[in-house]
Amino acid sequence: DQSLRALAARNGLSFGTAVDAAAYTDAADPQYKVMVDGQFSTVTAENAMKWESLEPTRGTYDWAAADAFVAAAEQHHQLVRGHVLAWYSQLPGWLSTAIQDGTIDGPQLRALLKQHITDVVTHFRGRIWQWDVVNEAVSDPWETPSAIHLGGNTGSLKQKFADLLGPGYLADAFRWARAADAKALLFYNDYNIEAFGDGGPGDKTQFVYDMVKKLRAQGVPIDGVGSQGHLSTQYGNYDVFQVADAMQRFTDLGLAVALTEVDARSLMKDAKDPTLAAAGADLNARDQASAYNYHVLLQACLMNRHCLSFTVWGFTDKHSWIPNWFKDPPEGAGNLWDANYQPKKSLRTVQGDL
Ligand code: XIL
Repeated sequence: DQSLRALAARNGLSFGTAVDAAAYTDAADPQYKVMVDGQFSTVTAENAMKWESLEPTRGTYDWAAADAFVAAAEQHHQLVRGHVLAWYSQLPGWLSTAIQDGTIDGPQLRALLKQHITDVVTHFRGRIWQWDVVNEAVSDPWETPSAIHLGGNTGSLKQKFADLLGPGYLADAFRWARAADAKALLFYNDYNIEAFGDGGPGDKTQFVYDMVKKLRAQGVPIDGVGSQGHLSTQYGNYDVFQVADAMQRFTDLGLAVALTEVDARSLMKDAKDPTLAAAGADLNARDQASAYNYHVLLQACLMNRHCLSFTVWGFTDKHSWIPNWFKDPPEGAGNLWDANYQPKKSLRTVQGDL
């Protein structure tokens, strides 16, 4: 068996993917389901467990897609990463509008979040391996104000969500989750926390490190830190030891770590800037650079026995969030298999590392 799940098992690692519910059930694209079921030992719902999917109308839950997802995972002996509980994005419209318009106050939002976490974690109790309890709570170096802080750009939903809830919401969210499921591993999850000290994203890593260290010291039930691992060949391009060092520092706090949403996108040839377009035209170089980024994250994870899982955010360029989200300049080709389910250099690299 040369599947990723079999290769990873030899290293004591779970290898996962995000699952696109529409692709998984598309009878015209049977290959997608065959690969999800056969290649991976852990799965994350790409969207089906987000608040907007579970409670599109206030007070009325729709569990159908999420329940089907968990049932399929169990049928194929896969562990589930629950994604996601407290996050400013992909909130139901009724809630994000209220936050934007200021028609909800802090105590009201806090009560809704408590109810949400309690209901969702209770619904899936005993069936979730790792929960992303809090996602993307911390700003990026290029946001305003530029010092790393809880929230994001001034006036953004990300900032309003953080301000309404107040800094204590992380501790509360973990406690509410633990109260509803004593066994699930509870994670803080974010991007740009792969490495320390590079002057850019490194500052965010330091902020998150200080934050989770403080939570641990306060006895808050946090079990792990998820590093999303959305890399771009435009920047990042860490080496193995930078990433391994960051993981080591987190695991020295007594936390587990996981790579939770790995992909490695690169520039496409249709960029407006001629230099970027030229880079995008060199398919071989793009493949190599992408493969290198997979290698760095996987190797670092393999070096740390508290790195529990390595999850890719989709596995084929046929079904990928990247082209929809990274348009200026346009990026793509971030996955292990190409749009025709053919293996890429990245896949061969990952298989080799395992
Ligand atoms: C993305 C999904 O892949 C898209 O389908 C959706 O439109 C937007 O969200 N960080 C996360 C994920 O934690 O939930 C995001 O998933 C990607 C970035």
